[in-house]
Amino acid sequence: MKVAVYRKAHFNAAHRLFNPSWTDEKNNEVFGLCNNPYYHGHNYELEVKVTGEVDPETGFVINLVELKKYIKEEIEDYLDHKNLNVEVEEFKTIIPTAENISIVIYNRLKAKLGDAYDLQIRLYETPRNFVEYPAS
Ligand code: NI
Repeated sequence: MKVAVYRKAHFNAAHRLFNPSWTDEKNNEVFGLCNNPYYHGHNYELEVKVTGEVDPETGFVINLVELKKYIKEEIEDYLDHKNLNVEVEEFKTIIPTAENISIVIYNRLKAKLGDAYDLQIRLYETPRNFVEYPAS
């Protein structure tokens, strides 16, 4: 019997959306205010969904103490209060959109959780704008 378990988390981070291979004009046209060269911040809200079989010995899909620890170490400690473009390795080569941040979060957690679980990330950049990866 598969059950989905959710854990919410939160981090603040700054970013700038721009494509270094484009002109300033094109960056402004596509990214608008998000291309501010002085960066801007978001309060990101994260929902981590872990789906798996209920372990008959524990009654758990996953021990939330363990999931909480992975989210803290791999996501919060890694991204909170960071300038994503400047301080986070992955975003030196990819644009730190919500889409790409959700993929980075997925990959970091997947590496810890392994193949025993299905993982899905939902990331809110604002209360109204959010992404889901993998797409369902
Ligand atoms: Ni932004």
